[in-house]
Amino acid sequence: MKTLMFVVLLGIGLHGAAAVTHSLKYFYTASSGVPNFPEFVAVGLVDEGQIDYYDSNTRRAEPKQDWMSRVTAEDPQYWERHTQIYLGNQQTFKASIETVKPRFNQTGGVHLYQNMYGCEWDDESNEVNGFMQWGYDGEDFVAFDLKTETYIAPTPQAVITKHKWDNNRALIAQTKQYLTQICIDWLKKYVDYGRSSLLRTGRIT
Ligand SMILES: *[C@@H]1O[C@H](CO)[C@@H](O)[C@H](O)[C@H]1NC(C)=O
Repeated sequence: MKTLMFVVLLGIGLHGAAAVTHSLKYFYTASSGVPNFPEFVAVGLVDEGQIDYYDSNTRRAEPKQDWMSRVTAEDPQYWERHTQIYLGNQQTFKASIETVKPRFNQTGGVHLYQNMYGCEWDDESNEVNGFMQWGYDGEDFVAFDLKTETYIAPTPQAVITKHKWDNNRALIAQTKQYLTQICIDWLKKYVDYGRSSLLRTGRIT
């Protein structure tokens, strides 16, 4: 019994150290009617650890991990590029809240429009996965289904959005390319750069 325990523990230890599912996720939150809170906040996470931060008050993307300096060393335009991406999304999301509000017959009040997107990579099986979904006032609003390459609208107020986006083949191709290639490439790069600190926090499968 003692021997078996030892073998089992050793097995878990060796396997666990090797097989890790890594993830890169971005969370955008646009809000309206919330006093003293920025109307747009963006955060990026690698293996659940925050890598960057942007909000509509500072209007600058900034690093949240020391090892992100290795990204900038190789890619000096990194923060400027990300700042521009977030700034663009800030404007789009602000407009989106105003588009969605009337669909719920809302004129004022506190509202949130959120987006979560990213990808996962298993460094042992090389299995990958991508996801992109939006929420409104804390409920699922619309989601991209990578398998069917269509949008899913769980709420009637999102059906217009679904149809519009389903007909935008360029948007779908771009989203698919981001989720299945660009996101994975960046995730592998971040994992490589942050290896020593990420290995402690990565999800063991
Ligand atoms: C919005 O108002 C219209 C007209 O009064 C009504 O038919 C519709 O059901 C309302 N929609 C919601 C989401 O409350």
